[in-house]
Amino acid sequence: MALIPSEALIFERSVPGKIGMDLPALDVPAAKDTRPAHLKRQSFDAMPEVSEVDVVRHFTRLSRWNFGVDEGMYPLGSCTMKHNPRINEKVAALPGFTESHPMAPAKHVQGNLELMWTLQEWLKEITGLQAVTLHPAAGAHGEFTGIMLIRAYHASKGAKRSIVLIPDSAHGTNPATAAMAGYTCVEVPSQADGTISFDDITDASSGKTKKGLLALISEHGREIAGIMITNPNTVGIFEYRIAEIAKLLHDIDALIYMDGANMNAQVGLTNPGYIGADICHLNLHKTFGMPHGGGGPGVGPICAAKHLVPFLPTNPLVEAGGEQGITAVSSAPFGSPLLLPITYGYIKMLGGEGLRRATEMAIVNANYMSAALAGEFRTFFTGENGRVGHEMIIDLQNFRKDYGVEAGDVARRLMDYGFHAPTLSFPVHDTFMVEPTESESKAEMDRFVAAMIGIKRECEAAVGQEDNVVVNAPHTAAEIASSEWAHPYTRELAAFPAAWVRSSKFFPVVTKIDAGYGDRNLMCTCASLYEMDCGE
Ligand SMILES: Cc1ncc(COP(=O)(O)O)c(C=O)c1O
Repeated sequence: MALIPSEALIFERSVPGKIGMDLPALDVPAAKDTRPAHLKRQSFDAMPEVSEVDVVRHFTRLSRWNFGVDEGMYPLGSCTMKHNPRINEKVAALPGFTESHPMAPAKHVQGNLELMWTLQEWLKEITGLQAVTLHPAAGAHGEFTGIMLIRAYHASKGAKRSIVLIPDSAHGTNPATAAMAGYTCVEVPSQADGTISFDDITDASSGKTKKGLLALISEHGREIAGIMITNPNTVGIFEYRIAEIAKLLHDIDALIYMDGANMNAQVGLTNPGYIGADICHLNLHKTFGMPHGGGGPGVGPICAAKHLVPFLPTNPLVEAGGEQGITAVSSAPFGSPLLLPITYGYIKMLGGEGLRRATEMAIVNANYMSAALAGEFRTFFTGENGRVGHEMIIDLQNFRKDYGVEAGDVARRLMDYGFHAPTLSFPVHDTFMVEPTESESKAEMDRFVAAMIGIKRECEAAVGQEDNVVVNAPHTAAEIASSEWAHPYTRELAAFPAAWVRSSKFFPVVTKIDAGYGDRNLMCTCASLYEMDCGE
């Protein structure tokens, strides 16, 4: 089945002469057009001619195809898809923010500068570090900035260090960043509880031994520039030996980069400075109220300890950064300042108490779900006290063998139950990483638990049946309403597997696709830039 069989592209709906905007004739002399001819589009033929109504309906309809956190629980572990208070977006939409130019003279934007200064002070307090740069536009961009600072720090001492240690559970952006900054990544294995292993680890089946942290430090010594570490780590467990790790690295003058993506489990309870980090990024679009998804927009400020302040990034046009600062990482002096009022409003509204409470609730919620699922699903890793941090990895590794169903099928079936799929097979194969965040109520979490157990029962019932309700998920409206239905289960079970789905059914527009084929075959449905008439 094609994805959306009868969907006409907006280009195909173009009707010559239709317009979305009608401006009166100029009653002042036209401004001189100083744009270089080679940069100008030669014609607008490639743009669809549609009315404003067409455009609004087009994009509204497209937005309805998406399942968002406004629709229901979006437990995408590591990504922190929580509810973001709308009031902060209203604040950010005030004209004083939206109409100020990033290069406006300082005397014209004193209010914006004050907001940014105050926000930086708060972020310093939250992270326990001494300086902040707001330049990076995302977490990964922050990582790059941070690693370049570490590089500049060692270079300033004339030290040639070539290695960055990265735990095997790390997010892919960590090794990518270190490699982009010219470092060799050396993997640190995790022990059975998911935390960094100090000792060597021998794989029982292959007999191969991986060096633990202590052996790696003694082998590479002062070749090591630093370690990139996430806390809680990406399997949802607090690195309870983090202070020891920091000391071991500091003893050889290597630095600790803390990936702040999971900072929503630290705010108000502990902080990167306290646990020994020299530098960290914050994903303001995860922890601090900015909506995100689909690649942005975001802000990934870097918070740095005193010894890294001289290397903070500069800007060629505006005074910024340290005296030995690395070159600019964003063209605008403060990255994406338009978004900062959102985080400012979020922190201001919650205050210290509220921020801590949000962190506590994120951790309590994850532990509640882990316990509620325990009778049916094992939580893969738990820390020294048998608990998780703010997210958990749920084990589905037996599903393929026991029921002939893959973890991906269970994730897709969750959509029929009205939930977004959790993070799948990251960082452990055939598992879900579930992060309920502080936004979810007990009632919603109970529904999710009921859905997981309901799907497990469906899997058990499906043993030996190739055509079953889990492997065929998700079920689209078109499929449910079609006159042909050859499956051994009912349409009702397919689309309305639980009572709560009746009052708020979300039909995915796309059914199961051949993901492997899709990954290998890039398809694009709009004209390429070369086909568009963009002039020379
Ligand atoms: C642990 C971790 N590090 C880094 C990143 C990268 O952050 P961003 O998506 O803002 O670039 C993510 C994003 O999901 C993450 O989960």
